Amino acid sequence: MTHDAPRILMCPPEFFEVDYVINPWMDGHSGSLDLELARVQWERLRAGLAECADVVLLEPRPGLPDLVFTANAGFVYGPRAVPSHFMPHERRPEEPHLRAWFEQNGYDVRVLPENVAFEGAGDALIDRGGPWLWAGYGFRTEIEAHDYLRRWFDLEVVSIRLVDPRFYHIDTCLCPLDGGYLLYHPPAFDADSRAAIERRVPREKRIPVSVENAGHFACNAVNVGERIFMNRANGQLVDALEARGFRVSQLGLSEFLKAGGSAKCLTLKLTEPRREG
Ligand code: ARG
Repeated sequence: MTHDAPRILMCPPEFFEVDYVINPWMDGHSGSLDLELARVQWERLRAGLAECADVVLLEPRPGLPDLVFTANAGFVYGPRAVPSHFMPHERRPEEPHLRAWFEQNGYDVRVLPENVAFEGAGDALIDRGGPWLWAGYGFRTEIEAHDYLRRWFDLEVVSIRLVDPRFYHIDTCLCPLDGGYLLYHPPAFDADSRAAIERRVPREKRIPVSVENAGHFACNAVNVGERIFMNRANGQLVDALEARGFRVSQLGLSEFLKAGGSAKCLTLKLTEPRREG
């Protein structure tokens, strides 16, 4: 596997907190964060990624506890960026900062209409085996947003309906991997969407993830070349990945799970690794 190092956007957890509940994981965690531990865990992810990627930082802001989840900053492909327009109003105050960051960093910024929710790369994942985008909808992103993505990007957009509120962004239950492999938790999708996934990705490239592993956010992984960074997975899943040539780093991201996020949510790929072949 040969690669250009991707650029990855992260935001330090300086003002990270659970002070509202907008997904089932946050319930009961208000005020229970160990911020010192969160800093250590985040730094572990940053340092690990720095071995294979260029990590770029977004400035943290007081009062915006979820800004740390840069996967939701927007969707970036090539020179173009679509900043997120959040479904929960709790995260909407992040929007002007995100849009400004994309503008100041020279992106061709496309803005969605006020009535269309879209939560960025949390709900839009580029496949590594074919030239299409897996686009989630059902909880945080509306299917109407997919039409704009179709219009603005030279990518086939495959709409995937999410049905389990614990897996409310597609990046919590599906992860395209190098070589065209796909980690996915089948019960998180409706039957048509599961069929669409299985039609596109041959059986030998699919790696189904159990509810136990999905509950540990094993699908919420960052893959760069042969490296995979994630919160945690059991031995069976780690073996399955290693048998396909990947190296898994389990980072232990407990504090971020309390907010309903993990490794992938804490990152935004600003450049995609070059596809081989
Ligand atoms: N608390 C955040 C929210 O509910 C977590 C976001 C996780 N991001 C992700 N890409 N899955 O919006």
